Amino acid sequence: MHTDDQLPAVRRVAVLGGGVNDEHDVSLASAAAVTRAVRALGLEAVPVTIGRSGAWGHTGGPPLSAADAVAVLSTCDVAFPALHGVNGEDGAAAGLLAMIGVPVAGSPVRAGALGIDKWVTKTLAEAVGIRTAPSVLVAPDADTASLPFAPPFVVKPTTGGSSNGVSVVRSVEQYGPALELARSTGDAVLVEQFVTGREVDIAVFRDRSGALRSGATLEIRVADGDVFDRSQKYDGTADFTVPARLDEAGHAALEAAAHTLYDRLGCAGVARFDFFVTTDGILLNEVNTCPGFTEQSQVPRMFAAVGLPYVALVDELLTAAVAAD
Ligand SMILES: Nc1ncnc2c1ncn2[C@@H]1O[C@H](COP(=O)(O)OP(=O)(O)O)[C@@H](O)[C@H]1O
Ligand SMILES: [Mg+2]
Repeated sequence: MHTDDQLPAVRRVAVLGGGVNDEHDVSLASAAAVTRAVRALGLEAVPVTIGRSGAWGHTGGPPLSAADAVAVLSTCDVAFPALHGVNGEDGAAAGLLAMIGVPVAGSPVRAGALGIDKWVTKTLAEAVGIRTAPSVLVAPDADTASLPFAPPFVVKPTTGGSSNGVSVVRSVEQYGPALELARSTGDAVLVEQFVTGREVDIAVFRDRSGALRSGATLEIRVADGDVFDRSQKYDGTADFTVPARLDEAGHAALEAAAHTLYDRLGCAGVARFDFFVTTDGILLNEVNTCPGFTEQSQVPRMFAAVGLPYVALVDELLTAAVAAD
């Protein structure tokens, strides 16, 4: 950790976007927003993209060989990976950048790899006293005639994102197709009891002084019995309440759980912790170590609500990354 007056200068910032997964376009939107913010800070942005098939490039430019991409990244003072999902958020981007010695405004390999897997995250959360919905990991040859829980329950890929492959099963017949859908989107499949409650998220980052800073809580209004699906996430119809309707004790419980998870997972940069608030307390749903990051995304709204607008948030994350290096 450096003191402010010794911080290495940040001039060139690599912004990574795209990626080989079904959150490719979402990632490009996040990366474009970060690039605008970097330029608004008077810094040089170096947008580096990963195509759907894994080819490296510059936004709108010719393809780059992997060796050239590494050479370009190596010239940067810090990198901001806006890569959501597998082959990015899962530690892949952090690993590459760590091996070539570029500081990262985001989580290191371990936190990314743990956080991408919903089952592993739940296991860790339970071990540190944070409750999650009862669940089972489905065996690859599971018999779809025997249900793991009484419906309704939720079927989801362990490493998915953007609600891809997530279904609510309300009857026996729906189980087989739900499993098939989840398997087509990810490797392992998790089945969880349906939680009746409100969805409330909170985001945290560690700043340049080493302190954890939380954004406002954000509540997603979803119709009863329904899920927050891909179309609501990206078509502008998502109904967010910031801050969430929580009493002081509810807010404190959520923030304490998020801080514990941030530390136990070993996160850096910003991470978003998604909870259900039920009449019986809070349950962790999932952790996102590289959450959606356009100006309209949840995390920037949460921090804007506590007086840290988008460009200032990007500045904080870049400065924290070089301070921690
Ligand atoms: N156990 C559950 N009970 C009720 N709703 C759920 C449950 N798990 C997921 N959901 C709903 O599905 C949405 C997407 O599931 P989530 O696990 O967050 O996957 P993703 O990583 O794709 O966002 C959640 O935002 C929530 O609306
Ligand atoms: Mg989610």
